[in-house]
Amino acid sequence: MSKPRVAILISGRGSNMTALLEAAARPGYPATVALVLSNKAEAAGLERANAAGIPTAVVASKGRTRAEFEAELTATLAQNRIEILALAGFMRVLTAEFVAIWTGRMLNIHPSLLPAFPGLDTHARALAAGVRLHGCTVHLVTPGVDEGPIVAQSAVPVLAGDTESTLAARVLEQEHRLYPAALAWLAAGQVRLEGARAVVAANLAAGALANPLPQFAPLRRDEQTP
Ligand code: GAR
Repeated sequence: MSKPRVAILISGRGSNMTALLEAAARPGYPATVALVLSNKAEAAGLERANAAGIPTAVVASKGRTRAEFEAELTATLAQNRIEILALAGFMRVLTAEFVAIWTGRMLNIHPSLLPAFPGLDTHARALAAGVRLHGCTVHLVTPGVDEGPIVAQSAVPVLAGDTESTLAARVLEQEHRLYPAALAWLAAGQVRLEGARAVVAANLAAGALANPLPQFAPLRRDEQTP
């Protein structure tokens, strides 16, 4: 059976895109990345995709209506016979009409443990809230921003002394592990929708939660409370 053709949609750096490209280049990966598409011509990820020999396209979003943008997007995806979309730092909200066309076939990665911290500035907000666990989520896309059924999550500790950038780096490392796995499950038909929830095949379910254990230094005797 031929592998589903995936388009990765980016707006910037493209480190998650690179992780997906590297995974998809391995033998046995159940999806082919057939296109990397950006809504910004200057997205650094486009150069990386070109260097990896993956077809790229730019569909500009600036200065156009959503309808115009999405009409060209749909045409470009159709020309490239795309079957699955993977949003990877794609910072443009898609309309309910577009999302409906891709129900169950469009993934997004978000840098928080949803439903906590949807939207922007997730690491700063996690630090401000004082949470002890933070992380990332891969979910199916529905019209509500960052609201779709969760496919996989990875948790990281928030450590004393963390800044936005140290926390972002710890989460990003997990994003690069989690997204290739979640895309592989979807491409292999191992994710199904049950009402508002995504159910991952039983033999993979353990992998749908990755939670590296925090390394704590034991308290010294003089730090312990009596
Ligand atoms: C990633 O951290 C991704 O989770 C986030 O943008 C970054 C893109 O980095 N996405 C969102 O915030 C979407 N709401 P990348 O371009 O290096 O993959």
